[in-house]
Amino acid sequence: MHHFEHRNGRLYAEDVDVAALAGEIGTPFYVYSEATLRRHVRVFATAFAGADPLVAFSVKANSNLAVLKILASEGAGADVVSAGELMRALKAGIAPENIVFSGVGKTGEEMKAALDAGIYQFNVESAPELEALNDVALALGKRAPMAMRVNPDVAAGGHDKISTGRKEDKFGVAWDDARALYAHARGLDGIEVVGVDFHIGSQISDLAPFEAAFTKAAGLIADLRADGCTIDRLDVGGGLGIPYGDKTPPPHPDDYAGLIKKLTAPLDVRLIFEPGRMIAGNAGILVTQAIYVKEGEARTFLIVDAAMNDLIRPALYDAHHEIQPVLLKENAPEKLYDVVGPVCESSDFFAKQRALPEFRAGDYAAIMSAGAYGAVQASQYNTRPLVPEVMVNGDKHAVIRRRPTFEEMLALETTPDWLS
Ligand code: LLP
Repeated sequence: MHHFEHRNGRLYAEDVDVAALAGEIGTPFYVYSEATLRRHVRVFATAFAGADPLVAFSVKANSNLAVLKILASEGAGADVVSAGELMRALKAGIAPENIVFSGVGKTGEEMKAALDAGIYQFNVESAPELEALNDVALALGKRAPMAMRVNPDVAAGGHDKISTGRKEDKFGVAWDDARALYAHARGLDGIEVVGVDFHIGSQISDLAPFEAAFTKAAGLIADLRADGCTIDRLDVGGGLGIPYGDKTPPPHPDDYAGLIKKLTAPLDVRLIFEPGRMIAGNAGILVTQAIYVKEGEARTFLIVDAAMNDLIRPALYDAHHEIQPVLLKENAPEKLYDVVGPVCESSDFFAKQRALPEFRAGDYAAIMSAGAYGAVQASQYNTRPLVPEVMVNGDKHAVIRRRPTFEEMLALETTPDWLS
């Protein structure tokens, strides 16, 4: 459920008129709905009332400080994968004891920053990383709270590029190595074994892979406890898909939470969730304006002012995003469009052969479900400025990231003195 809907033919973000906003901000820009963000994070609080899970929002999905602040005010923590994300989470007021650190390539510097901050948990993904974490912790005179990310060899995820839990993926330690590595970890003075961690993929569209992975998790936890490990926490990662409008919608978050609850209730562990997309995905849209309608030889191209550098998901994963006119026209005929941006690449598209109500140059369009993995994956390719981000709350709005000037974009570059 989100808060973007047409009223009397005009698209509203909560109670803010998107066309009026476009006039004020200038296209393209992202708009996020605070009410939607809050609603999505509350699913866990409702489903696990009394159980006190840690909902660690996966910052990579949307790292804007205002977004993180809103989620923090709902009691959410953060799942970070870099020193930069750690800094953002702390700056947004997320308590270190609500932060987990994931990722296959944490550097010594990053481990030190996280140990200094006093984070809740490191999710360790390999034997060499375990040694490195032990060394860094010992040098600081600390013990690092550690869960091992175990790879359950379950295929899951909406696209090959976002599936992470199979044997051939780079993530996690192999299932068959887990017990031996835990036994080794128990003997390391810089490591405190606290739990087990899984994350099997993203945009997962049915509950079966979760069921398979967490049934395996229960067995592993029993084995590790029999080996003498203290396992108080189970981090179930993220991965639940959202409806993008093309395929059968994924399970409702309430059903996902219900399944996890059922599978993990007997385990006596504190649950940690790392949701990204299900919190932020449908809480954001990308607003763009048609520059030209080009009648090509084989296709009609709707050329808009947003491009693959602003939202790369269609180019990278063939992702489907609904496209809606911001202002509905009465009795507009449907036409087939390739919706494309101005970047000089054939992969710069938002939709191919999509039936849409007729568009004219100057019309605004909303690219839906763009709140997760949208702005965070943007680049300045073709020297296009990163687009602004706007938060709405009821009838209020605020720019939460402004558009940089061209001068700011060039400010980090210098010309070697032999060229001057
Ligand atoms: N935890 C870990 C360790 C992760 O690697 C991820 C996502 C998440 C949590 C959050 O997963 P989510 O709940 O959002 O599915 N850029 C791609 C998605 C990449 C996901 C990477 N890892 C996309 O636009 O679809």
